[in-house]
Amino acid sequence: MKRNILLHPDPRLKKVAKPVDDISDDLRALADDMLKTMYEAPGIGLAAPQVGILDRLIVLDCVKEEGETPRPLVMFNPQVVAASDDLNTYEEGCLSLPDLYADVTRPRVVDVTWMDRDGKAKQETFDGLWATCVQHEIDHLNGKLFIDYLKPLKRQMMTRKMVKLKRELARA
Ligand code: NI
Repeated sequence: MKRNILLHPDPRLKKVAKPVDDISDDLRALADDMLKTMYEAPGIGLAAPQVGILDRLIVLDCVKEEGETPRPLVMFNPQVVAASDDLNTYEEGCLSLPDLYADVTRPRVVDVTWMDRDGKAKQETFDGLWATCVQHEIDHLNGKLFIDYLKPLKRQMMTRKMVKLKRELARA
């Protein structure tokens, strides 16, 4: 089932999500829904708070090349346990702020631990787009959006655009 993606500004996007201690069938179904919602958007990552669920769950797949095998990842309680001093700047976007993009600088390489959909502990090193994406999604679990890295003026400009878009969507 496809879920509705919350649009910024929304108080639920500013909340800290709670850790998952037992991966229920409901949570697995939520992860499947989130993957479907992400692929259809289309996007490369989605965090549970973006569909209104304040649990520490993210999904991502940064395989973008046509013809390459997809690599859907489901992460419960993802955590960055190490980050490189080396930084990387990517133009980021977010399904909660459609059509808005800005450069964000983050560590280039990160080690991430998480629990997979079967409750198995995982650890992996990510770099490039994967590193940016996983950090962006984990930020969502802490109530943080990519625009929070921008200068206030730019952030306010993007928020105003979103308020206007939401008003138009509400009228439609
Ligand atoms: Ni996002």
